[in-house]
Amino acid sequence: MTSRKCLRGDIITPGDKSISHRALILNSIAKGKARIDNLASGDDVRSTMSCLRALGVNIIGQGDVFTVNGVGPEGFRSPDNVLDAGNSGTTMRLLGGLLAAQPFFSIITGDDSLRSRPMDRLIHPLRHMGADIWGRRNDSLPPLAIKGHRLKGITYKLPVASAQIKSAVLIAGLFAEGKTTIIEPTASRDHTERMISALGIKINRDDKTIELTPSAPRAPVDVSVPGDISSAAYWLVAGAVHPDAKLRILNVGINPTRAGIIDVLMEMGAKLKVDRVVKEGGEPVADVSIETSQLMGIRIKGNMIPRIIDEIPLIALAGACATGTTVIRGAQELRVKESDRIRTTVTELSKLGVDIEELSDGMVINGGGIIKGGDCESHGDHRLAMTLGIASLVSQGEVIIHNAESVSVSYPGFWDELERITG
Ligand code: S3P
Repeated sequence: MTSRKCLRGDIITPGDKSISHRALILNSIAKGKARIDNLASGDDVRSTMSCLRALGVNIIGQGDVFTVNGVGPEGFRSPDNVLDAGNSGTTMRLLGGLLAAQPFFSIITGDDSLRSRPMDRLIHPLRHMGADIWGRRNDSLPPLAIKGHRLKGITYKLPVASAQIKSAVLIAGLFAEGKTTIIEPTASRDHTERMISALGIKINRDDKTIELTPSAPRAPVDVSVPGDISSAAYWLVAGAVHPDAKLRILNVGINPTRAGIIDVLMEMGAKLKVDRVVKEGGEPVADVSIETSQLMGIRIKGNMIPRIIDEIPLIALAGACATGTTVIRGAQELRVKESDRIRTTVTELSKLGVDIEELSDGMVINGGGIIKGGDCESHGDHRLAMTLGIASLVSQGEVIIHNAESVSVSYPGFWDELERITG
């Protein structure tokens, strides 16, 4: 791929992946039918769906419209085989919370990448709640073996800001005796809290503390899933850095715990506009427009990191196209994502000619240079593959991306969309 003449058009991204996992799991715990529109189309959400089916939940539908026939808190059945979360950390961790409360034995595993991601952070609080749960390598890695029990609510101070661990503990807490309280170091995405509340269950937030009072869900909730801001982010950066671009992303979720990319791009000087803000199913949704902009380097750290956690490789690319230096710190969590995203982002963007340096907890990008292009590798990481795809829009020479098909876990239509808007 090489850079193209202009980028134009309206884009509809797939449904939000985080909200889709939660819509399936939480509606399975409710009793009765829930309709989910615009369910995320990638493999990760299919993994959650197939695990729930193996636990006895009837989920039917096609395309992006599905009906979950929730079995109620007592209705899950013991799976006949090992559950497979594929590449999806969210599937393994959120279902870990569910399985910890079930009166049966289960094993959950995943692909090579997921089997190298830390699970001690999940095992620790769930054991504290009363579950028997073990992992490979001294309880640190998948597969996980789980024998659930009647759990007790706990107060848990999260050692790292993680929506996946927070959500796992909250889901386990739904089945527990007594309240569950979570203290977050920094606010992470709050889709679980919003959906638990929509199910009629009492959950309160006060600054960094979340308190859940368990009860059975009042009724299932129909969910119209907004477009995924993490997928929209690729087009926002493409629009900002391309020399002739005008793009609009329609109906995208702008939940403030997720939409840090909008703030980062604005601070970098992007010509970005948020229009038609409405609330749909407890989540704010909007149209976001972007056009060619002269970006400036910025410093990013602290509370912003969880709000852009999946967008950092892409922000590194934005930094490469900006004038001045961009510094990202406090992002050590990137080392335990689908790849070590500090290492892989620095390695692959360097191959394309970007002046970028690795730090233990982030990176430094010296912008304004030329992206020459070259041969690079996604490391099987969907977010890196898409970042490199956007780099190809502004590179001088060809960009060849190996393992580009890894986009399928979150955005199967990414390459077609790229082709369409550059048409
Ligand atoms: C997710 C939370 C984040 C994010 C992941 C999806 C979620 O992970 O990186 O892609 O849906 O809860 P952590 O919570 O581990 O930071």
